[in-house]
Amino acid sequence: MSIEFSKEIEHDYPFMNNQDIHSHSLRERIHFMSRFFAQPHAVGSIWPSSRYLGRAMLQNIFLKEGDVVVEYGPGTGPFTAQLRPYLAKGVRYLGIERDDRLYETLQSRFPEMKFHHGSAEEVSSLLEHYKLPQASLIISGLPFANMSPDLQQGILEATSKALSADGVFRTFTYLFSGLSPRSAHFQKIAAQFFQKMKSDEFVLLNLPPAKVMSFSKKEIKNY
Ligand SMILES: C[S@@+](CC[C@H](N)C(=O)[O-])C[C@H]1O[C@@H](n2cnc3c(N)ncnc32)[C@H](O)[C@@H]1O
Repeated sequence: MSIEFSKEIEHDYPFMNNQDIHSHSLRERIHFMSRFFAQPHAVGSIWPSSRYLGRAMLQNIFLKEGDVVVEYGPGTGPFTAQLRPYLAKGVRYLGIERDDRLYETLQSRFPEMKFHHGSAEEVSSLLEHYKLPQASLIISGLPFANMSPDLQQGILEATSKALSADGVFRTFTYLFSGLSPRSAHFQKIAAQFFQKMKSDEFVLLNLPPAKVMSFSKKEIKNY
């Protein structure tokens, strides 16, 4: 493992400045908002995630050449933009986005990255399809708190198959939805497949404020 995310990311790549990594143009925000109004339940948020949430999602993650990163629900790509520089270091990326318009936006914003138009439930068959090994990191932007128990179960089961033995599955929930019955159900099912790696991290500088959760398939020491 040779790469540390989030601390060095802005210095490692002189061809990208901070604005490239963090910027979310007004047009992208409006596009995201329009997708929320088209499918509020599936999109789950009116506004894309902030850079602060992006940093928390990638904090203390170490990746090396050949590792695979999967992103669920990239939306307009706030986390994708922070992952992009690592392609140059030989990290392989697959984004899975269900919304057709957001999928098209991702393809034009990140032409060098691989996206699949479909559901995160398909993740393990997609890794096979693209001849990729299990993922070292699965980053989720999915609105689990809005999903049916069956869909939660399907995605978590597929995630457990797709994640390597020492991989990290990281997701977030909005603070207000974290108290809902579906969110409680998500945490209950997640505990069947994973264990929490550390205490949850709260990110108040996001609209709405969020909580980041990290899971692994086995105990990882010295994390
Ligand atoms: C809350 S938004 C997060 C977008 C982005 N990651 C961010 O943080 O700004 C949720 C995203 O997940 C996508 N999504 C919802 N259900 C999905 C599923 N089953 N598989 C893949 N993507 C899904 C939505 O279309 C939307 O882009």
